[in-house]
Amino acid sequence: MAPIPIPAPSKKEPRVLFITPEVYPLCKTGGLGDVSAALPAALRALGLDVRLLIPGYPQVLAGLKPKRKVAEFENLEHFPPCVLRAAKLPVNDADSIPVFIIDCPELYSREGGPYQDTAGRDWPDNVLRFGLLGKIGAILGSDASPLKWQPHIVHCNDWQSGLTPAYLHFHPHQPPQRKAASVMTIHNLAFQGNFPPETVARLGLPARSFNMHGAEFHGQLSFLKAGLYYADHITTVSPNYAREIQSEPLGFGLQGLLSARRGQMTGIINGIDESVWNPATDPYIASHYARTDLSAKIANKRALQKTMALTQDDTAPLFAAISRITHQKGFDVLQQIAPQLVEIPAQLAILGSGNAEMEKHLTALARAYPGRIAVHIGYTEALSHLIEAGADCFLMPSRFEPCGLNQMYSQRYGTPPLVHATGGLVDTVVDCTPATLKNGSATGFVFHPMTAEQLLATIRRAAKLFEDTATWRMLQQNGMTKDFSWRNSAAAYRRIYRMLAGKTDYRTA
Ligand code: ADP
Ligand code: GLC
Repeated sequence: MAPIPIPAPSKKEPRVLFITPEVYPLCKTGGLGDVSAALPAALRALGLDVRLLIPGYPQVLAGLKPKRKVAEFENLEHFPPCVLRAAKLPVNDADSIPVFIIDCPELYSREGGPYQDTAGRDWPDNVLRFGLLGKIGAILGSDASPLKWQPHIVHCNDWQSGLTPAYLHFHPHQPPQRKAASVMTIHNLAFQGNFPPETVARLGLPARSFNMHGAEFHGQLSFLKAGLYYADHITTVSPNYAREIQSEPLGFGLQGLLSARRGQMTGIINGIDESVWNPATDPYIASHYARTDLSAKIANKRALQKTMALTQDDTAPLFAAISRITHQKGFDVLQQIAPQLVEIPAQLAILGSGNAEMEKHLTALARAYPGRIAVHIGYTEALSHLIEAGADCFLMPSRFEPCGLNQMYSQRYGTPPLVHATGGLVDTVVDCTPATLKNGSATGFVFHPMTAEQLLATIRRAAKLFEDTATWRMLQQNGMTKDFSWRNSAAAYRRIYRMLAGKTDYRTA
């Protein structure tokens, strides 16, 4: 297929600095990495000049070449010296996203993940690692920027970039001097970046920011609350989650602030990168297929069974999950009902990593049910694609889920999802009932409340329907027909940027 031509950025559209702690394929621990590549690409396809700002972890510096030095911050108060480099991140055949990298060896040059060391402990200097990300974001969005390129909007993602709106707020500003407007996107309210009070001075924030009307949260400095308080607009990654976080328990203590700011908060559902997640072209799967002809899907099931040492069996429904293994994702509940799932008879394949205790339990299950339950502990991009293609039904028993991407990937792969009714899962999966089957909207299975009984009952319901090959095929095709592209969501972000840019001192002429 010929690449779709990407328009040159339009001078009439707002320029956007997209600030993120991770981006696929350079550095990804979850959905934020996917979104940070796909959303900017979709915005660029709409003609917006979007550029990324990301910390220079070793995998980022190694993955992007060549890198030009575009600025130096030798005497930044409170932070070690660093260099700003520019490179391009290829995103598809037709385009690449300009990226600014903060090259600061003292903070970023080390083995391990972006937030934790190899043993899973938070980096002790995360306050500075992500304080610097917030600081540079604010500098690039203000008249203090050493760059010619000036954004109208700084778009922050999760707590790691939450200080940008705070630094910008306190940056002295005399029109006609310039200052970007800020958007704070919540991908997960459970991660807040809370640090002891003495870090306020250490980061060079004014003492008055440490206030309940500001960045203070239960006696700590909260990066996320700072972002939510000082940003011009808040977004989160699904309309349903935007409602849920305005009250207990999913507001995680921030429900008061969020409901007070609901007039400046928008829920925009994530899309998926259709070039990365496409069963007709996916390089990681055993056999390609499409909605019009699903016959090759079974070859992927066989390949998955072989790869994960499950018994070769076409008829047993194969349930699967790919996830961070945490309390949020409900793996403790899944593990409780796994023995009954096997008795259906069905198979279970799990790929994930996270909580060490939960990992141990899952591994023990796999040992207890060889050939029926397979667990792969680790993070493997290739296997995740084969699971999407090879499984029959995709499990997401999340206690909460701001958006969730895998349920959309799985629908695209003809693998109906089975999900708890929460967050973005409600916005993206339509439960299979006689009525939704009849009107062609059914795409999966939705259960509530989040209990072992309900999960098991719904797994049984899915396994029963799986025997009805014609209806199952309809369910698969309904999901494969849905539009999960970024087009509409990118346009919704553009509306917010345009509205905010109209209020800043920048001119978009
Ligand atoms: P979250 O961001 O909360 O982890 P999402 O559903 O939004 O959840 O996104 C998770 C992303 O990370 C998906 O692209 C998923 O395939 C991927 N992922 C999670 N765990 C693994 C793993 N162990 N191996 C490969 N990919 C994984
Ligand atoms: C978070 C959420 C997940 C969401 C992802 C991308 O990690 O847990 O639900 O899909 O961010 O927005």
